[in-house]
Amino acid sequence: MKFMKKFFIVLFVFATGIIRAQTEPITTANDGKSWTLETKSSIYQIGSSDQGVVGMYYFGNKSQDPTKLRYPLGEEVTVRGGYSATTPMLEIVFKDRVRDVELTYVGSEIQTVDGYKTLVIHQKDKFYPLSVTEYIRVLPEYDLLEKWMEVKNTGKKDMIEIENAQSGTFFLPQNAYELTHLAGIWGYEYQPNVTKLTQGVKTFQVKDFRSFGSSFFAVRPEGEQMETCGEVWFGSLQYSGNWRMDLEKYPRGELQVTGGINFWDQSLMLKPGKSFTTPKMIIGYTCRGMEGVSQNLASYTREKILYPSHRSKVRPVLYNSWYATTFDVNEEHQLALAKIAKELGVEIFVIDDGWFKGRINDKGGLGDWTVDKNKFPNGLQPMIDKINAMGLDFGIWIEPEMVNPNSDLYRTHPDWVFHYPNRTRHEGRNQLMLNLAREDVYQYLYDSFSKLLRENNIKFIKWDMNKSLTDPVFPSAPSDEQRAVRIKYVENLYRLLETLRAEFPDVWFENCASGGGRVDLGMMARTDFSWASDNTDPVERTFIQYAFLNAFPSNSMISWVTHEDWHKQNHPLEFKFDVSMCGVLGVGYDITKWTDKEKAVAREKIARYKEIRETVHNGDLYRLVSPYENNRSVLQFVNKAKTEAVVFVYNLAEYPDNAILQTKRSKLIKLRGLQPEVSYKVEGIDGTYKGAQLMDIGIQFPVRGAFKSGIFKICLLYTSP
Ligand code: DGJ
Repeated sequence: MKFMKKFFIVLFVFATGIIRAQTEPITTANDGKSWTLETKSSIYQIGSSDQGVVGMYYFGNKSQDPTKLRYPLGEEVTVRGGYSATTPMLEIVFKDRVRDVELTYVGSEIQTVDGYKTLVIHQKDKFYPLSVTEYIRVLPEYDLLEKWMEVKNTGKKDMIEIENAQSGTFFLPQNAYELTHLAGIWGYEYQPNVTKLTQGVKTFQVKDFRSFGSSFFAVRPEGEQMETCGEVWFGSLQYSGNWRMDLEKYPRGELQVTGGINFWDQSLMLKPGKSFTTPKMIIGYTCRGMEGVSQNLASYTREKILYPSHRSKVRPVLYNSWYATTFDVNEEHQLALAKIAKELGVEIFVIDDGWFKGRINDKGGLGDWTVDKNKFPNGLQPMIDKINAMGLDFGIWIEPEMVNPNSDLYRTHPDWVFHYPNRTRHEGRNQLMLNLAREDVYQYLYDSFSKLLRENNIKFIKWDMNKSLTDPVFPSAPSDEQRAVRIKYVENLYRLLETLRAEFPDVWFENCASGGGRVDLGMMARTDFSWASDNTDPVERTFIQYAFLNAFPSNSMISWVTHEDWHKQNHPLEFKFDVSMCGVLGVGYDITKWTDKEKAVAREKIARYKEIRETVHNGDLYRLVSPYENNRSVLQFVNKAKTEAVVFVYNLAEYPDNAILQTKRSKLIKLRGLQPEVSYKVEGIDGTYKGAQLMDIGIQFPVRGAFKSGIFKICLLYTSP
């Protein structure tokens, strides 16, 4: 590649200068300007040439011999400028309209950021007052690196325009590669999309704030798509606004992966002395196939991303009244639902949409966050008291970022919504998006929801968002800030969530956006769980959940049992519960209409769920059988001590005891992640089994027939010493 000419005198020191210590995540070579970053299974190597160009030499398996890494694959911070041969991380326009950037190495240090060693590399433009600081935080136990960048205008006089600032990039050597990413639409979120990466650029992106997919990516050598083994480079972005991922395959076969904010229709003006910090991109490497990817990402998200104070708390069983009532809520019915929910074993009762002023349907009310006195003449707290007296916590639905034109808020502040003058106004679900980039909008929302939480004993917030971003105009801002409206919006969204959480530390927060429209590590960092999809059909949910668990942990996935039946299949209630029990269980039926038999099923399932949730939420996931490849789905969670596993078997079609069929598709399921030498007891199956036997030979679970399911606990047999 052309950019390699810049490195014509590469002082290559990896071979001579570095002694790789197993315990140090970052090692600096003797020359002081070459580094090796080391995780459990990978190394990432960087060096600065004599010309001050900081290049990336290698990212992959740590068994690589460093002496082989003679040439950089690309620059650490790719820029628009010079040969422009690569996807740029940074595109700048200076005051005199020069658009080229020429970075040169200035210095580096190793910092400790939240307990993890972080390599900080300083570069600056050779002529203009621009500095670029790259951060790479090493999280060895998750096989992950976090990358982000700070761009600063170090001048005194002129503004600098940022047309693009990505979070991170990395290069892979010549090879044929294949990509898996998760894309979807409402009701069919995060569907795995697999594509060959041929010469050119594969971009997946969102211009909206809802994607129904994810910035998650997994790249592997072509033809090696394996669940349980094989090299995979993977990652995603910690961002909830519009984002993009670019995978550029060069003519000679190298691959560059770049991710960050989608600067489409955006630019940032940096005033003298000001800086802009990108969100983080995480990148990882594993040689344990997609299983390694999902386990690393789940552990990382569970232990480092989810909102800290609630991260390790046991997730409560919820009842949510949406499917039972839609907007037609009142105290009497809510209390009737709550009473039965409590009898079934539910721990928190959540009232969904419809409780606030003017909200009789989706045509009005959004924005007016006071209780509807027609529905709740005594306000909310008397009802909450009664619900609390039953032994249930209480939660409530809100949709802060939206307003209906039919609301007092809109009538008072029509200028608070996104809407270009002289242009069609784009409503969705009869609502408009508030311009949360505005400080007055931020303050109004903060005042409304802090008051709601202060005046009522609310322990759970379901934060919804149901409209696409359109017409993002910001006329009240100075002209040089107007094109950064989306970035400012997301900043204030995060600020609002963080402020409310800090002020009300014992409240759970659920993230929802018309189902799973905005599930990402940015929202996960500020909430406790996400509503995966409005599609609660148990068969389709099996696919959605299998895909969700590619990238996110099960303790972040809310899943309700409801009467929804998208294909008129009338699935058994037991099957619905079993499907929901591999996430955070919720119930959404009108349970006042349930028969005693149905209540008995629910009671038994909820009790069972409480026994297994610790392993399901905190264990490692092994996806034993994919519904995308079979007529069934089998998931296994193993606790960290490997003393207990829980297996979920979902049959999506008939599995007759037919010898011919059996030879075509084995019923034996090979378990994973157990201790080979010790004995286990498999619930519901006679005898004891060595871990090795369960893993190498497998076991048949007694689940017969379509839409039948089973949950099996596998426990280590303790023998007296
Ligand atoms: C969309 C959500 O996905 C649903 O669960 C429900 O909360 C509705 N909004 C309420 O309007």
